[in-house]
Amino acid sequence: MKYEFDEVIDRISDPYSFSFKWKDPSYILDELGIKEVREDVICLETADMDFKTAPEIIEDLKKLADHGIFGYSSIPDEYYEAVCGWYARRQDWHFNKEDIFYCPGTHNAVATCVKLYTKQNEGVIVLTPCYGYHGDVESQGRKYVEVRMINDGNEYFTIDYEAFEKACEDKNNTMFIMCHPHNPTGRVFTHEELNKVAEICRRHNVLIVSDEVHSDIIRKGQSFEPMMKACGPSGLIAATAVNKTFNLAGLAMTDLIICDPKLKPTGNDMYSMPSPFGIQAVISAYTKGEAWLDALNEYLDENIDVCIDYIHSNLPKAKVIRPEGGYSINIDFTPYGLNDREVIEKIYGKAGVILNSGLFFDDWRKAQVHRACLSSPRSVCLKAFERIAEQFKAI
Ligand SMILES: Cc1ncc(COP(=O)(O)O)c(C=O)c1O
Repeated sequence: MKYEFDEVIDRISDPYSFSFKWKDPSYILDELGIKEVREDVICLETADMDFKTAPEIIEDLKKLADHGIFGYSSIPDEYYEAVCGWYARRQDWHFNKEDIFYCPGTHNAVATCVKLYTKQNEGVIVLTPCYGYHGDVESQGRKYVEVRMINDGNEYFTIDYEAFEKACEDKNNTMFIMCHPHNPTGRVFTHEELNKVAEICRRHNVLIVSDEVHSDIIRKGQSFEPMMKACGPSGLIAATAVNKTFNLAGLAMTDLIICDPKLKPTGNDMYSMPSPFGIQAVISAYTKGEAWLDALNEYLDENIDVCIDYIHSNLPKAKVIRPEGGYSINIDFTPYGLNDREVIEKIYGKAGVILNSGLFFDDWRKAQVHRACLSSPRSVCLKAFERIAEQFKAI
């Protein structure tokens, strides 16, 4: 079966689209102080995709819609079998039904771990620049402890083990959120890296929460190893989901995998009820979605190649980070020698392209670095870079 990723789907005016990314980019524009934006705005920010999910999933959800009753729902064995089967087949990672704990979304899952496994004022370590766990940590009265990654000038990020160990030595720091694959640097950590950080955490009694929500979206030539498979289950919780993989984030279906008996939640610690659409989507995705995902990854690889080539040719001073995992690239405009305001005005204001500025990922490089999610039809991605290149061509 041939899958279609080139179709441009209207996510702005279609009444069934409630797209956060396309309908409401104001949260980014406000942060950057942009008052006016072109009407024909292009959004390559928020990490969801502008492709329809797998037709196999849509077909099953239509049947569910026809059933017509969407009352309180419980998770059937079929769901657990689908989850276990997927990770066993795709990642050679084996766990059981009893190790799976549903949570409504990965953000929520991480925040729940912070709430359950740390105390007020304790520190939660994160490798930065990093995706926004800030709120999950600080809104609950915990401290957000940044350990900056090292980059080698080509923007390839590695772990600063000395700084990491120092953070773990502090007895007040009791949890580490590992983002693997790492957003926004695009790193897929190696077996050795995973083991080194796990060893340091275990030596200092720091609980690991490994957010693996991007783990199915891996670039060609790279391989992903789940942290629990690499390092064993002791003192480690993993968060997995169909959300990014199958563009199902709106259904908020995340599973925490907890095999360490000391960490198993009890009673109502994590009680929440998924929607029947969420349950069915997970079963369909994990039992029927494999061919679609493989086709998607191929399309994303080509998108990344084509866009990076375009940027090299048409924005020759910009530096680009090619991801090992995920579908976003990071573009550094520093060599153009403009100030932050000028860069922001050109990209977001004049070109009307919404990306995620470095400001979104801690204080990476302020507004000179921008993350672009290439999870849109190729024509849309290229149009965005054409517009940006137009703004920078005279510099
Ligand atoms: C690393 C990471 N974790 C979690 C999330 C949020 O996932 P969810 O939609 O399942 O809450 C994102 C979304 O971009 C992400 O990049």
